[in-house]
Amino acid sequence: MSPQPTDAGPGTGGTDRAGSPQPADAGPDTGDDGLGIEPIHGGTGNEEWFRRARRVIPGGVDSPVRSFASVGGTPYTVARGSGAFVWDVEDRRYLDLVQSYGAILLGHAHQAVTDALVGAARDGTTFGAPSRGEVLLAEAICQRVPGCEQVRLVSSGTEATMSAIRVARGFTGRDRVVKFDGCYHGHADVVLAGGGSGVATLGLPGSAGVPAGAVADTAVVPYNQVPDIDDRVACVIVEPVAANMGLVPPAPGFLAGLRRACDAVGALLVFDEVITGFRVGPGGASTLTGVRPDLWCFGKVIGGGLPVGAFGGRRDVLAVLAPDGPVYQAGTLSGNPLATAAGLAVLEHVIPADHQALTARVATFAHDLAAAISGQGLAVQVPVVGPLVGLFFADGAVGDYAAARASAANGRYARFFAAMLRRNVALPPGPYEALFPGFAHGPDELALVVQAAAEAAAEVAAAEQGSALAG
Ligand SMILES: Cc1ncc(COP(=O)(O)O)c(C=O)c1O
Repeated sequence: MSPQPTDAGPGTGGTDRAGSPQPADAGPDTGDDGLGIEPIHGGTGNEEWFRRARRVIPGGVDSPVRSFASVGGTPYTVARGSGAFVWDVEDRRYLDLVQSYGAILLGHAHQAVTDALVGAARDGTTFGAPSRGEVLLAEAICQRVPGCEQVRLVSSGTEATMSAIRVARGFTGRDRVVKFDGCYHGHADVVLAGGGSGVATLGLPGSAGVPAGAVADTAVVPYNQVPDIDDRVACVIVEPVAANMGLVPPAPGFLAGLRRACDAVGALLVFDEVITGFRVGPGGASTLTGVRPDLWCFGKVIGGGLPVGAFGGRRDVLAVLAPDGPVYQAGTLSGNPLATAAGLAVLEHVIPADHQALTARVATFAHDLAAAISGQGLAVQVPVVGPLVGLFFADGAVGDYAAARASAANGRYARFFAAMLRRNVALPPGPYEALFPGFAHGPDELALVVQAAAEAAAEVAAAEQGSALAG
């Protein structure tokens, strides 16, 4: 299926809001033709910003999931965000269900976070010595996640999973790692064997540039099936609720089965809660499911929108880390005061009762969203776990990556995405992502999404009928 261009969406107008002409295309990059930064309100639109971006940033994006490669069209360039909304450089407002792929839980530019950031910035932004924020955030995480006795802070989810795997290998003295097809654990070599969202969206089996040796000890197995493992396995790493092949909840007994399988051979169980941590519930997925791993990986929410990650778990396991133990891991900006201040502000702001209310609100939303789309004759699945929502254009429930791929292959997500964007609702630009409604998405915002979805689904259904008749 060919991706649909966003014909009336951002990036198609040749003029900005005021109607002023756009700068002429600069043509091939000569290296001296205006890499100077133009002012934000200088009359440039999404097309122009993306054109400039493509000249100086590979593909025009700093992370491939932000590109519109799998949905078609030009990405909107964000100028600012507030609560549930973002505004692009053309001052067009979108109801944002991306929320930085889950890094934002309270909504954009939440007062508690910006106040914390301003306060922290005044005291200095990084020291290279222990600082109080690191201790406070580590305490906040350990208090909220039973069984997580210690954490070390890092600067991204990728660092968290990479480090957790190194710890598992160092602790067990084994090399082998088991991961699940369709789960994404960041872009460290060891886990780029098969992959979720970004890799899957681009249709690559893994990644060029990853030596065969780096993944020689990584086994990739189907999600929601407990694999047979032996005593060569250092760890089994899993997204306890998979959110990088769309949203795929764990089948009943899957996580408990992994726990038993690991215990039987002395392997460690690693929960990658970079998305689920403090989002699917105040204690994350381990608390929600009652299955306790040996190691956790966190990111996103615990940084309040700043670059952060963390890995933690059993004290005896983490004892292998330098400086106490032989496993090396480090970071100049780890535990950065701005990131810890923002993360703490988020964790302290969220109280369990509010989280329950959010979960209930989103459950209603998921039900209404499914009804709005299926009411237009499109088969759809809208799984929901806590406030995480999935969207598959499929006849039946999606339980693994093969089913997620089959659903994405019908190309309907791209058409729906474009139709939603025309109605000022920003979904993630790829079929393998989850939707991230959060505390800023109240009943009114969610109702707007449902209304737009009904119209968008009608448009997609009509277009498909039209092309079927024409064909
Ligand atoms: C489950 C999971 N683990 C790890 C990562 C990597 O995190 P980061 O992008 O911060 O490196 C992601 C990113 O989306 C993720 O979803």
